[in-house]
Amino acid sequence: MSPVDAANTVVDIDLGDRSYAIHIGAGLLDQASSWQGLPRARSALIVSNETVAPLYLARLQAQLQPHYPQVLTVILKDGEAYKDWHSLNAIVDQLLAHAADRKTVLFALGGGVIGDMTGFAAAIYMRGVPFVQVPTTLLSQVDSSVGGKTAINHPLGKNMLGAFYQPERVIADLATLDTLPQRELSAGLAEVIKYGPIADAAFLDWLESNMDALLARDRAALAYAVRRSCEIKAWVVGQDEREQGLRAILNFGHTFGHAIETGMGYGAWLHGEAVGCGMVMASDLSVRLGLMPASFLARMQRLVAWAGLPTQAPAMAPERFIELMQVDKKAEGGEIRFVLIESLGKAVMRGAALDLVADVIRAHSLLAAA
Ligand code: NAD
Ligand code: GLY
Repeated sequence: MSPVDAANTVVDIDLGDRSYAIHIGAGLLDQASSWQGLPRARSALIVSNETVAPLYLARLQAQLQPHYPQVLTVILKDGEAYKDWHSLNAIVDQLLAHAADRKTVLFALGGGVIGDMTGFAAAIYMRGVPFVQVPTTLLSQVDSSVGGKTAINHPLGKNMLGAFYQPERVIADLATLDTLPQRELSAGLAEVIKYGPIADAAFLDWLESNMDALLARDRAALAYAVRRSCEIKAWVVGQDEREQGLRAILNFGHTFGHAIETGMGYGAWLHGEAVGCGMVMASDLSVRLGLMPASFLARMQRLVAWAGLPTQAPAMAPERFIELMQVDKKAEGGEIRFVLIESLGKAVMRGAALDLVADVIRAHSLLAAA
């Protein structure tokens, strides 16, 4: 399929009775068909934040009003630092204050923070109500809105409280990316890049040929990147919904990245920035373990930097880095498990000697320059 053909497409995610469609295209927010055929209910609740609501809330409300007698809203503070119990409670408070019943449909209008929290609220409210993902960042369109991982953060660890809970549908309107700050676009590109080394060597080649177009928000290039990312994610999640094995490959770069996010305080580094830098570190570990040639690290460094992402971690002592990584959900009995690349398009999970890991941290952190 050529990139141009990718506009206005549907990617199906096959999970038996939890299967759903990911709709990708420009202008979907304002298309009546996007909102037809969803579960019927007395109430809908749109969850958004102070940045996204002024841009898109009224348009979504207008689309939902013909379907739901009561369209409620809750507008949360913006930022990773608010992906917490307090915001989750605000969603639940709004539902209970309006006597929302167990058929109520939740709509997550925003980026991954809103999507993850809304999904978690949907998972726990009255033991589970339906929800729809309306992702408005590149990162959420290519990754977080798909696959049913929902969560909030704990001060001691990223995404430590959550549930696997699938949405009814994903509506990824590419036109919403027009208002996304450039730094956030770059953050989204980190999760796009990851799909190449873990699953599709040809996609990595394509990214190198199209990175400038993506950064310039060329609609056809973005459409293809979102579609291919969702196809790969749907393929992985379809085989391993609850991360018993394969799904962990989607966390390439995340073990180092989560340590950066938690260590620096949520929001200091964007999730995608931490993942970008984390992929460089995980690539280096793959090289040091003899899995990949040194040219792979150079290639990843170049692509991550080209996407506008940091390739040097913040000044954090290797011991602290390692301590934070031991809280990672992939760790087993305190042993850190890394997603590494063993050939282009193929990832593997394994542990590594801590002195080797410390060498990687030193080689790619600002500490080395201090
Ligand atoms: P985000 O939700 O914080 O959004 C980034 C910023 O962009 C915010 O300030 C937001 O208000 C703003 N924004 C959103 N849409 C906009 C638009 N169209 N125009 C202008 N501004 C807009 O961050 P994110 O990068 O979307 O998501 C990161 C989160 O996703 C992290 O918490 C991460 O842990 C989570 N995540 C989850 C999964 C998963 O599988 N569930 C996967 C990857 C990441
Ligand atoms: N973003 C990792 C996953 O969905 O499994």
